[in-house]
Amino acid sequence: MSLTHMDILVINSSTGTYNGTLKTYLLLQVDIRDEDALDAVFASTRFDAVIHFAGLKAVGESVQKPLFYYDHNIAGTINLLKVMAAHECKKLVFSSSAAVYGSPKNSPCTEEFPLLPHNPYGRTKLMAEEICRDIYRSDSEWRIILLRYFNPVGAHPSGYLGEDPRGVPNNLMPYVQQVAVGRRPSVTIFGNNYATKDGTGVRDYIHVLDLAEGHIAALRKLFDSSSNIGCEPYNLGTGKGTSVLEIVNAFEKASGKKIPLVIGQRRPGDAEILFAGTGKAERELNWKAKYGITEMCRDQWNWASKNPYGYGSPDSTKQNGSNSH
Ligand code: WQD
Repeated sequence: MSLTHMDILVINSSTGTYNGTLKTYLLLQVDIRDEDALDAVFASTRFDAVIHFAGLKAVGESVQKPLFYYDHNIAGTINLLKVMAAHECKKLVFSSSAAVYGSPKNSPCTEEFPLLPHNPYGRTKLMAEEICRDIYRSDSEWRIILLRYFNPVGAHPSGYLGEDPRGVPNNLMPYVQQVAVGRRPSVTIFGNNYATKDGTGVRDYIHVLDLAEGHIAALRKLFDSSSNIGCEPYNLGTGKGTSVLEIVNAFEKASGKKIPLVIGQRRPGDAEILFAGTGKAERELNWKAKYGITEMCRDQWNWASKNPYGYGSPDSTKQNGSNSH
């Protein structure tokens, strides 16, 4: 396999292979658990750094299928790190998650908070972080940034790129989106008796564009010879908490659609209030989230209204499948 000039290489954990040279990018679909295939890619060209997004991300699914999650998120990460080391590529941006904090008693939650994940998904992210920390301790040539995403939502403003979870959405925003386009009858609110402004859970929702900028800022940091990055975590959030009902109201405003609600039981393991302390990323990555809930809902609705069945069609969305990022 000969690789031509490329600016980006996309490796994700779905199986099968596809080779195609786009205008200025080369997209290869390689299963991160296939070490030989990964090695062949790294043997074919020089990579200066890797952004590792290839992981499964649905909390509920991880509880039902823990081995599936450990296989992809841990075995896959070990493969990638082994191949990177073998080819002297030692700059990594890793997609971690606020799930490593579990349910902290208070917010804002900073990077110094205890790491107490309480589901297999969160544990895979913490284990991967620990593997990165150990690698750096064994070889200080590595420069690693761990990005702890809070709650990514929104879509590219063009309306061409957005989230398309397979099966029943685990997360709030894609679920609300599917109610707004008429694919589901109502949203179940997981508990409205929390000690919050309106009784519903509070989270730190961050626009996916801000998240992307956070990755660019992390790459810049890794290549900044004056910075002494070893293996460092950074929260990617807005530093603001928004309740479930506030999200629903904002989405109704953005879409002009009524979102029917059902008040249900609390979801086991849910934190009451969780939002990010963002000072470290602002100071050290020179990065700060720019978009608010209005823009997040505006762009998510723009994507949903143009693509009510995501990248599929009414028939294709009936198949189940895992959610990854
Ligand atoms: C948000 C709020 C629910 C669905 C998880 C991962 C985290 C990140 C984002 C990857 C909570 C409420 C939800 C619904 C509801 N993933 N809710 N009805 O659990 O905060 O975070 O996904 O990076 O790592 O842990 O996100 O969207 O599932 O829930 O009432 O149908 O919405 O109780 O308060 P969560 P979520």
